[in-house]
This record gives sequence, C-alpha cells and structure tokens, in this order.
Amino acid sequence: MPEVKLVNVTKRYGTIVANDKVTLTIKDGEYVSVIGPSGCGKSTLIKNIAGIITPDEGEIYIDGRRVNELPIEDRGIGYVFQNIALFPHLNVWDNVTYGPRVRGLSPEETKPLAIEMLEMIKVRERSDAYPSELSGGTQQKTAVARALTSRAELLLLDEPLGALDVKVRATLRHELKRLVKDLKLTALHVTHDQEEALSISDRVIVMKAGRIVEEDAPTTLYTHPQNLFTTNFVGEANFLTGEVVKASGKSILVELEEGLQIRAEASGQRIGDRVVTAFRPEFVDVERSRVNRLKGTIVDVLYSGSTVRIRVKLDNGDIVVAKQRLRVETLTIRGGDEITLSVPPQRILVFPYPKGGLENELALE
Ligand SMILES: Nc1ncnc2c1ncn2[C@@H]1O[C@H](COP(=O)(O)OP(=O)(O)OP(=O)(O)O)[C@@H](O)[C@H]1O
Ligand SMILES: [Mg+2]
Repeated sequence: MPEVKLVNVTKRYGTIVANDKVTLTIKDGEYVSVIGPSGCGKSTLIKNIAGIITPDEGEIYIDGRRVNELPIEDRGIGYVFQNIALFPHLNVWDNVTYGPRVRGLSPEETKPLAIEMLEMIKVRERSDAYPSELSGGTQQKTAVARALTSRAELLLLDEPLGALDVKVRATLRHELKRLVKDLKLTALHVTHDQEEALSISDRVIVMKAGRIVEEDAPTTLYTHPQNLFTTNFVGEANFLTGEVVKASGKSILVELEEGLQIRAEASGQRIGDRVVTAFRPEFVDVERSRVNRLKGTIVDVLYSGSTVRIRVKLDNGDIVVAKQRLRVETLTIRGGDEITLSVPPQRILVFPYPKGGLENELALE
C-alpha cells in the first residue's frame, strides 16, 4: 500500500516541457485519476513514476524512498501501457502469469490468481490465444489482468480501458475500482474519459501543458472548480462575460452584454471588476425561478436519450445551453420558440476575467 510523492518533477523533450515542476502526493490506498487534453503530459507523469523515463529535475519517492534511479522492476508497480499492452510472443495465460512467475511464485500459487483475474475480465476461454489473435479490447483487458496478477501494490494505468466499447468500459471501471480497494492497492489512472475519472476516483487531477492546474474530489471538482480551464474541461459550462455593478453582502450583480443582469453569490468581487460567470447546462431551469430570468429564443433542440439540450440565444445575443431531463413537456419544444431561462445564483461560478482573454484561457493547448 504505497504512498507516492513527486516534488517539482520536470521532464523535457527538446523544447517541449512534458512535465513542468509537478508536485503531487498520492496517498496510501488512494485511487487517483489524471485527465487533461492530449499532449498535456499524462503519460509522461506515469512513465516518470514507473521509471521508464528519468526526470530532468525533481524527486520521486515511493513510500518515502527516493526512486529516481531505481529500475522499473524494483519499484513494485503494475503498469498498463497506453499502447503496446502485451508481450506478443506469449499467449494470454503466459502474459497474465508473467508477473508472479518473475517474482518466483510457484505454479500452485499463481494458477488460482490468474484464473480469478481471467474470469473477472471474461477472457479465460482465450487463455491459449496470442495477442495478435485478440481484439484490441480483449488485449487491454488482458493487460489489466496482468497488472493485477503481478500483485504490485501500486497500479499505474494509462488509458487501461481506452479501446473498449462504452458499456464494457462502464462495467469494467467499477470492477477495477473494487479490485483496487479490496486488494488495498494505490492506483494512478490516466483517462480521456471524464465520466470515468469522476465516477471511480477518490481524487481527480487536471493537467494542462505539463502542469497540474487543479486537483480535488470528483464532486467538488465538478460543482466548485477553482479555475476557468477546469470548468470548461470537466463537463460542460456556459460562460458569460460581464462587469460587477453591485456588490452588497452575500450577493453580487453582474451586468452582461446589452445591460442584461444576473445575480451570483459574492466571493470577494468589487464593483467594476470584469468577470466571467460560468454555469452548467443542467443547472439552467426553464421557467421556474424568479431570480435571474433570462429571455431568449431557442436556436435548436437536441434529444439524446434521457436528456434534452436546448440552445438558446438570449435577447442580448449571448448563447446559453440548458440541459433538461426528458419530460413530456420538453418533447414539444422547438427551435424558434421563445423561452425564459433561469439559473440559481448559488450555481453561478464567478471568475476574474483572464488577462490573456477567455478563449486563450479555455484553449486545450
Ligand atoms: N519520447 C518523446 N520524445 C519527444 N517528445 C515526447 C516524447 N514523449 C512525449 N513527448 C511529448 O511530450 C508531451 C507530453 O506527452 P504525453 O505522452 O505525456 O502526453 P499525454 O497527456 O499522455 O497525451 P495523450 O492524451 O495523447 O496520450 C507531448 O508534447 C509529446 O509530444
Ligand atoms: Mg498518453
């Protein structure tokens, strides 16, 4: 049950700073996910911890021991790689029992462990197959099984479920979490899938351009993100720019384009501050509240299973997306209809207007 600690870890590739002074602690037994745009340094972070690469600067500790120069096989980790998952010259069984064999476990000890893992991921009947004979999804599942049978206490998972279809993925991620918790492992899980990260992790780390921009428990990260990039990257949000025109006690009034005003909870803003207000589409009500009534015209309506997305052009020209649960009434909403939206003030996040402009701040690069 190891604790992992990184202090100011930097890794450069020429002029690219793939990890830029990353400082991070993963607690014993914690399940941590890392999300961020492609190329932000997620795999580099995992490779630094695994020992596949050595950082240019900074320290890496596993259980208090500095491991910067320790070879990968001595770090006590199970690793699922982003791309090449399996040993191509070994069949499924030999791949999955590789870890225990290398650690000198007897076949009697290894067998039940391997069977348990293969049954869990439902590939036991493919034990004799070679990786080239398996679908991408089965290869990935086998790679997860192999990492688990190694009985390493620290699991590093780089997009372990990336090649699987949505349903299998959703089942397997919970299995994975359960296993990690049952076996009291520590896990660092890189994923492109925010829902995956939010649903299985104790803590989610958001990276951008080599740095950690924010980390928090999933619900807090989603409902109270601390910066604009995270608000945009995790889930979906509406962003409306304006100026604080009233700031009294617990609430502020923000004037948007064309004099439209919305109320939000105060958090230290002053009159005259240029701000960006942000709110999630699912917190936008259709004609319910008296506060923050925003009139507009429906641009389009998108039905997707249990939810409906309504895009509205407000009278001031701003576009707002509202997400509603599908109800009988919502089925009759049409583009061109007039509509009144409202957002509860406590659901509005207020950020200082970024120096480099909003678009720059939200950009994925
Ligand atoms: N071996 C390498 N040589 C040169 N540049 C590299 C190397 N490995 C990574 N990089 C660069 O470092 C940056 C971070 O790469 P990394 O693989 O960590 O990103 P990532 O967040 O895992 O992206 P993805 O989500 O696409 O897997 C990228 O700009 C990448 O091009
Ligand atoms: Mg990667």
